[in-house]
Amino acid sequence: MQVDITINGKPVRGDVETRTLLSDFIRETAGLTGTHRGCDTAQCGACTVHLDGKAVKSCNLLALQANGRSVATIEGLAAPDGTLHPMQQAFRECHGLQCGYCTPGMVMSAIDLLRRDPQANDAAVRHGLEGNLCRCTGYENIVKAVRMCAQRASA
Ligand code: FES
Ligand code: FES
Repeated sequence: MQVDITINGKPVRGDVETRTLLSDFIRETAGLTGTHRGCDTAQCGACTVHLDGKAVKSCNLLALQANGRSVATIEGLAAPDGTLHPMQQAFRECHGLQCGYCTPGMVMSAIDLLRRDPQANDAAVRHGLEGNLCRCTGYENIVKAVRMCAQRASA
């Protein structure tokens, strides 16, 4: 079946099977491999993208379910001149990553978290990111990064 999905503002058309996951469409049809696959069972959050502005685990959706809709991935966050999104910049400054495998999903979830709760405190950040697993950082610097981004946005 043919699907048309707008990804990072650009139309992407592809032929998919009914069982094709949105994460596979993003990585293999659109060639955007910043969206990672960690588990394919909706546990780890590495595949998190925005669907019509809301964070979703793209391994937990079919490509068909995104037909006609808009997806944003980590590749779409930075400005055309390379200026990082404020959340990416905060992760960079706070050392909110080590191996980086979880980072795209973590950043996409964190942006949605602050969209819903712009003043999120430490507990709210931890709660909001509990669907995103990181095996490296111990989460401290991730929480700091999200809080820094929130504080800068409200300054
Ligand atoms: Fe989607 Fe782990 S790959 S939640
Ligand atoms: Fe390695 Fe999070 S930085 S899994």
